[in-house]
Amino acid sequence: MKKVSLNLKDALMAIVVSGLVVSMSLMSACKKSDSSTPVTTMSLYDSLGGTTKVVDPTNTSVMIEKGRLGLRSVVDSTIFVIAGDPKLNGFFTVLLAEVTSGNTSGFTALSNNLTDFFCVATGAKNFTYGGKNMVDAHDPAKNTRMNGKASSADFDQFVTDLVVGAKKNGLSDQLIGQVGTLVNTLRSQVVQK
Ligand code: HEM
Repeated sequence: MKKVSLNLKDALMAIVVSGLVVSMSLMSACKKSDSSTPVTTMSLYDSLGGTTKVVDPTNTSVMIEKGRLGLRSVVDSTIFVIAGDPKLNGFFTVLLAEVTSGNTSGFTALSNNLTDFFCVATGAKNFTYGGKNMVDAHDPAKNTRMNGKASSADFDQFVTDLVVGAKKNGLSDQLIGQVGTLVNTLRSQVVQK
């Protein structure tokens, strides 16, 4: 009997001790994963709608990521704003001559490239940018579609037109601010005058 009772005591003790060990190791595991789990922050692309698929309003038989649709809408609106802006449209003479004569291939290529560029720059994972780098794209010697070198004032005007394009598509002031900050990081590559 004594032995049994001792065994019971031992067993209880073992349960208590192993319980303590388990909870301590669980605590340390939690601690470990707390400090090693990367903090997932939302990218600007996510804030713009991210990877959620929606029907593409320009082609209802295809789906498009909401983030890409938002950026493409801003890009296309901005191209239209620039086309009507006498301070900037002189840089886009090749594009405007094409569109005026009914050839929209350059517009489509620019829209796609700018949209890819902004998708990648805002953190999209499912797109790549295959156009010229920002220095070459804005150097008339390397890009014959760029009619002249841009100054810092031209760049400011581009940002103004981009904000108009973004507002046309209902982007919040906070998101517009973030896009503005991103775009400004490219100033030294675009401005070559
Ligand atoms: C941060 C601001 C800007 C960004 C992110 C940007 C981006 C781009 C991209 C991605 C392209 C297409 C390159 C390719 O197709 O290989 C492009 C082309 C061009 N950009 Fe910019 N750009 C910016 C500012 C400006 C400014 C300030 C001007 C003029 C003052 C300008 C004028 C042009 C022109 C004329 C083209 C050629 C358009 C065409 O293909 O017909 N860009 N830009």
